[in-house]
Parts: sequence; C-alpha cells; structure tokens
Amino acid sequence: MSRYSKGAIILHWLMAVMIIGNLAGGFLHDFVPNDAGQRSLVMGLHKSFGLTIILLTLVRFGWRVANPPPAFPHYFTSGERLLAKLAHWAFYAAMLAIPFSGWVMADRNNRVLSYFGAFDVPKFGVTKSIAEAAGEVHEVLGWAMLALLALHILGLLKHLVLDRDNLLVRMGIGQGRQRP
Ligand code: HEM
Ligand code: HEM
Repeated sequence: MSRYSKGAIILHWLMAVMIIGNLAGGFLHDFVPNDAGQRSLVMGLHKSFGLTIILLTLVRFGWRVANPPPAFPHYFTSGERLLAKLAHWAFYAAMLAIPFSGWVMADRNNRVLSYFGAFDVPKFGVTKSIAEAAGEVHEVLGWAMLALLALHILGLLKHLVLDRDNLLVRMGIGQGRQRP
C-alpha cells in the first residue's frame, strides 16, 4: 500500500499527540487541582502548544502542497473518497480555527500570553465581549474536533474490520495486510 511522505507522517503523529493533549487539557482543566497553581501551568502549556499548532499547520500545509498525498486505494467508493476528503479538510480548518479562537480569547483578561515562558506573545487587543465570544467559538470547535476525531477513528476501524484493509500503513504504522 502506498504511504504518505515521511514528513507528512512525522507531522501527522506529532500534531495528533499535541492536539489530543490540548483537547484533554482544555476539556479537563476544571478537574485539575489548583492548590499549587497546577491549573495555570496546564493552561500555560495548553496555550503554548496551541500556538505551536498554528505554526505546524502552516508548515504541514506547505509540505502537503509540495508532497501530494498518495492516491486512495482503487477499491474506495466515491462516497468514501468524498467523506475522507471532507473530514481531512475539516481537520485542517479546525487546526487553524481552534488555536486562533483561543488566541483571540486571551483578551478576556490582562495576563500576559507567554510562549513556554520564553517570550510574550502579543494579543489582538479586541474588546472583552469579542474575546468572550471567541471563547464560545473555541469551545464549540473543540467539540467539533472531538467529533471529527471519532469519525476519523471509526473510519479506520470500518476499513480494518469490514473491508480488511489497514489504512494505518498509509500513515507509516506497520507493514500491515493490504488488499490487492
Ligand atoms: C489546537 C489547539 C487547541 C485546542 C484543540 C484547544 C482546545 C480547547 C478546549 C477543548 C477547551 C475547553 C473548552 C471548554 O470546555 O470551555 C479549551 C479551553 C481553553 N483554551 Fe484552548 N485549544 C487550543 C488552543 C488554544 C490557544 C492557542 C489558546 C490561547 C492562546 C487557548 C486558550 C484556551 C483557554 C484560556 C481555555 C480555557 C477556557 C475556560 O476558562 O474555560 N487554547 N481549549
Ligand atoms: C486530533 C488528532 C488527529 C488529527 C487532527 C488528524 C488529522 C489527519 C489528517 C488531516 C489526515 C489527512 C492528511 C492529508 O491528507 O494531508 C489524516 C490521515 C490519517 N490519520 Fe489522522 N489525525 C488525528 C489522529 C489520528 C489517530 C489517533 C489515528 C489512528 C488511530 C490517525 C490515523 C490516520 C490515518 C491512518 C490517516 C491516513 C488516512 C488515509 O488513508 O488517507 N489519525 N489525519
């Protein structure tokens, strides 16, 4: 089975770990104990990784244009091709829109936005009500990303179990069985 390029594979898995970590940090931050400031540590990492994701998405997009993805296996139906394409493009849109909405949300308060403690990142300087609205968008998009991730994994499982083809091979995992 043909594979994505090495760069696409590295970026996919690196970003998957960061995004899943950020979804977990975002949704679970209310449950993080805060007696020694752990919550602001978690959110500091959330914001810094989130800003990194903007940069990596741009790099990944450029890489994708220079290295087009492998063709879908020939036995994919046109419906499967369309659904996979829509889901992948929705992922790319979310990978930019989520961290951007988070960044705009940072104007809710006057705290500095620090990048891993190394330097301060400028804010957009929008009004508090716009920042609050961006927070709503951030939350809704977080749920949308989670739904996309579920769809992504259900799609892979459908291919693995019903069609007996292991698409993980395309993303660099294993030699795997592949349908001729
Ligand atoms: C791909 C990157 C990101 C993902 C997947 C993500 C996801 C999430 C999710 C799911 C939540 C919980 C929403 C809720 O239940 O209210 C959240 C909260 C939050 N995010 Fe992000 N986020 C990302 C990037 C960012 C960035 C770049 C910033 C700021 C620079 C940011 C700032 C925040 C803040 C401050 C909260 C807490 C909101 C509250 O107080 O309830 N996020 N994020
Ligand atoms: C939030 C985390 C994730 C995001 C944002 C994400 C995003 C993407 C995107 C955008 C593509 C299409 C790449 C392109 O054509 O440029 C893709 C492909 C793929 N992803 Fe993910 N992914 C995530 C997590 C996962 C996980 C957890 C798995 C495995 C369990 C996985 C397995 C795959 C595979 C096998 C492909 C290749 C699909 C194909 O055959 O075309 N991804 N992913």
